[in-house]
Amino acid sequence: MPLIVSRMPEGKFIYHGGGKIGKMNNVYVHGYDQRENIRLQDQASTLVDLLHFDTSFPAESRVLETGCGVGAQTVTLAKKSPNAYITSIDISETSVAEAKQRIESEGISNVHFQQGNIFDLSFEPESFDHVFVCFVLEHLPNPIEALSVLKKFIRPGGTITVIEGDHGSTYFYPDSEAAHKAIQCQVELQRRAGGNAMIGRELYPLMTKAGYEMVRVSPRMVYVDSSKPQLVEGFTKKTFTAMIEGIRAAAIEAGIIDQITFDKGIKDLYRAAEYDGVFCYTFFKAVAEKR
Ligand SMILES: C[S@@+](CC[C@H](N)C(=O)[O-])C[C@H]1O[C@@H](n2cnc3c(N)ncnc32)[C@H](O)[C@@H]1O
Repeated sequence: MPLIVSRMPEGKFIYHGGGKIGKMNNVYVHGYDQRENIRLQDQASTLVDLLHFDTSFPAESRVLETGCGVGAQTVTLAKKSPNAYITSIDISETSVAEAKQRIESEGISNVHFQQGNIFDLSFEPESFDHVFVCFVLEHLPNPIEALSVLKKFIRPGGTITVIEGDHGSTYFYPDSEAAHKAIQCQVELQRRAGGNAMIGRELYPLMTKAGYEMVRVSPRMVYVDSSKPQLVEGFTKKTFTAMIEGIRAAAIEAGIIDQITFDKGIKDLYRAAEYDGVFCYTFFKAVAEKR
């Protein structure tokens, strides 16, 4: 069933798909709100080496990036594979327009953008050598269906790369119950919206069930202490804590947490970014073949 997103007057989004209907508030539907767009750019630039040291597509190969958002990963894809032909799509027209602008401002010319829904793409079957999906499955109520649909566009012998996070992989020093509760709010809100913020650990079974072969998953742990000031700023504060801070109103409004506990949780996450603090999070990167 196609996934349709409708914007509601109060800034919420309704996702219809896979038989489910979920309500998403735009504070946590990544990619639709200016603060979130900045966070996605911070996340992408901070994590380039960790996630993309091995992301490279051969010259002349045709790559489909689905759910490109505002182009945060697209820039890296294009720079790392300057002679590949990249087609980047997103369901949000606004995000596609922003991504296009960003790519043009970088002087990159090997990316073609178009608005499109993963569940309703009009490309010819087997017309791509590679598909790239980053931080998208976590928002979908039907990730296996998305992976199956995308398989149709990959030529036999071609590959798919999927990257997702997993909030259950978060731990830090000093430990804090309030911080774990605040993180859990994000997990719960995403679950209520039909997504899964702990999908990283499921990539192997999801891709296998979708019919991919040679599935290889590599966990990519971000370990941050104050000897890595760039990661303290770029990851602990601006990527992770900013994401949790962004759901404050939605979490309190939904009655999942009280204000005091949430604010203490955020304070404690910032505490883990101090001189003796430590923060860990694991992303999962899967590469598989279509036979
Ligand atoms: C968290 S953002 C990730 C953006 C980008 N991949 C990145 O890593 O910065 C998720 C993106 O998936 C897009 N998306 C969600 N459902 C989609 C669908 N059915 N088809 C295409 N794009 C979709 C959203 O519009 C959003 O831009």
